[in-house]
Amino acid sequence: MEMNKQSRGQFLKTLGLSSKALMAFYCIGAVSACSTEENSVTPTNPNNGNTSNTSTGLTGTTTGASIDYTIDLKNASYSKLATVGEFVIIGDTLVANANGIYIAVSKACTHQGTTLSFRKAEGDLWCSSHRSEFKTDGTVKKAPATDALKTFKTTFDGTANTLKVS
Ligand code: FES
Repeated sequence: MEMNKQSRGQFLKTLGLSSKALMAFYCIGAVSACSTEENSVTPTNPNNGNTSNTSTGLTGTTTGASIDYTIDLKNASYSKLATVGEFVIIGDTLVANANGIYIAVSKACTHQGTTLSFRKAEGDLWCSSHRSEFKTDGTVKKAPATDALKTFKTTFDGTANTLKVS
C-alpha cells in the first residue's frame, strides 16, 4: 500500500532514473519507432496497376489482361529505348528497340515463366533458364518453350516522343 502513496518522481528515484533521463529514453524510443515505420513503408499503387503519375514517365495499365499504357521516352527510365538493342521490363511486358522498331511482348517465358531478355546481336528474345528463344513476333524459335509469347501493338509518337503499348 505504501507503493501507491509514492509520487511518480519518488518511484523514478527508486529506479535510479531522473525524470529527465526517462524522458530522454522515451524520446529516443519515439524517434526510433518513427524511423522504423518510415523505412518499412512499401510503395503502393493506389490504382491497382493503373499508373497515372506522369512524373514516372508512364500512364496506363502495365499488368493483367488489359495492358494499355504510354511511356514518355524522354523520361530517364525509358530514354535508353532510343538505342537499338535496348529493352526495358514494364509490368508484365518487355519493350525493346529491335533494330529501330519498337516491339512489346509478354515478359515471361512460356516454358516456366522466367523473365526474358532482348538480345541485340541475335535480334531475338532469350530465356536464361533453359535457353528458349523467341522471334520478335512472339513465335518460338528454339525449345524447350512451345507456346508463343503474347505480343502487343506499339505506337510511336515522334512529336511527343512517346510510345503507346496496347
Ligand atoms: S523457363 Fe524459359 S526456357 Fe525454361
